[in-house]
Amino acid sequence: MNLFDVYPLFDIEPVRGEGAYVYDKDNVQYLDLYGGHAVISIGHSHPHYIEKLTEQLKKIGFYSNSVKIPIQKELAEKLGKLSGYEDYALFLCNSGAEANENALKMASFHNSRKKIVAMKGAFHGRTSLAVACTDNPSIQAEVNKVHEVVFTPLNDEEALKKIVTDEVCAVIIEGIQGVGGVKVPNTHFLKTARELCNKTGAILILDEIQSGFGRSGNFFAHQGADIKADIISMAKGMGNGFPIAGILLSPIFAAKHGLLGTTFGGNYLACASSVAVLDVMKNENLISNAKEIGNYLMQELALIKQVKEVRGMGLMIGIELYENCAPVRNELLHKHHIFTGSSSDKNTLRVLPPLCLTRKQADTFLSALNIALKNSLAAS
Ligand SMILES: Cc1ncc(COP(=O)(O)O)c(C=O)c1O
Repeated sequence: MNLFDVYPLFDIEPVRGEGAYVYDKDNVQYLDLYGGHAVISIGHSHPHYIEKLTEQLKKIGFYSNSVKIPIQKELAEKLGKLSGYEDYALFLCNSGAEANENALKMASFHNSRKKIVAMKGAFHGRTSLAVACTDNPSIQAEVNKVHEVVFTPLNDEEALKKIVTDEVCAVIIEGIQGVGGVKVPNTHFLKTARELCNKTGAILILDEIQSGFGRSGNFFAHQGADIKADIISMAKGMGNGFPIAGILLSPIFAAKHGLLGTTFGGNYLACASSVAVLDVMKNENLISNAKEIGNYLMQELALIKQVKEVRGMGLMIGIELYENCAPVRNELLHKHHIFTGSSSDKNTLRVLPPLCLTRKQADTFLSALNIALKNSLAAS
């Protein structure tokens, strides 16, 4: 049987990982500044992560959400403390799209409305309503086009004021737009969105699937704007590679048995992975490391003359060039053995390293990028 061929692949086969590095089958070392789409948060194969998952697997791997699973509570408590959202409730599921689907559904259960306001350039996943809220018609099938979704430009407060009325169910905003090219919502825009939702009864959903779990230098990127969301969706860095996702729900939402559900969500192994992530983040101060190394990288990147703009927060960085970034990205990967990411903006490189990145590793990247940029300029 063949695989359904939907992914363009690099001719690289990683077989093991350690910290910010992966190694291919010939033991060639790659510096991983992409973490497989922002998934690797605490670093590949962290010893505490391996221990927690192994310990759990030896005890019990799975039972459904019809029995007591105390590790779910442990996860909720640790997550509440580290994120500062202690009074919110946690619903666990399996992927980012599923988290957003549940977030939007909860908003609609709450206010019985169905019009969603999403941002131009947004990516929220590939399931029905999540993909309808994604600003990319090429990945929407006819069956996805039945939802009432309107798109408005990120950071345009006047447009937002016109569109968020008392007919709106929810406003959904990425903590930092990732796929769209690392675009940061500004503080004033987020505060305006919060005020408009308060005024109209719309639910404010912050999609922190890519920007959350410490990546921005805050636990969630929107916390830099000093606002609170009604619902926060999380995934990627949450399990450092183990599939786990969730939503945090403000106390305005009442739970009822049967309202939401999933077979695999909140299973022992997924929870063990996320508990390990939170332990390591706390014990190794990875959130402040993300801020410090991220600030250093952004400051140095801004000095490179071939760089048009540097955007981001912490270790979620977009490097916009004056030209298509694909040749530079390829040179970084194949000559310098450094993984970086692309985005829907063809000129923007996306840098999403593990939060344990060191200054020395950041310097390795900066030197390689300078060489790759000079070469690509010479070739053009
Ligand atoms: C901001 C954001 N939301 C949602 C998703 C969808 O997550 P998943 O691929 O786990 O469904 C992604 C994935 O890239 C994302 O970046």
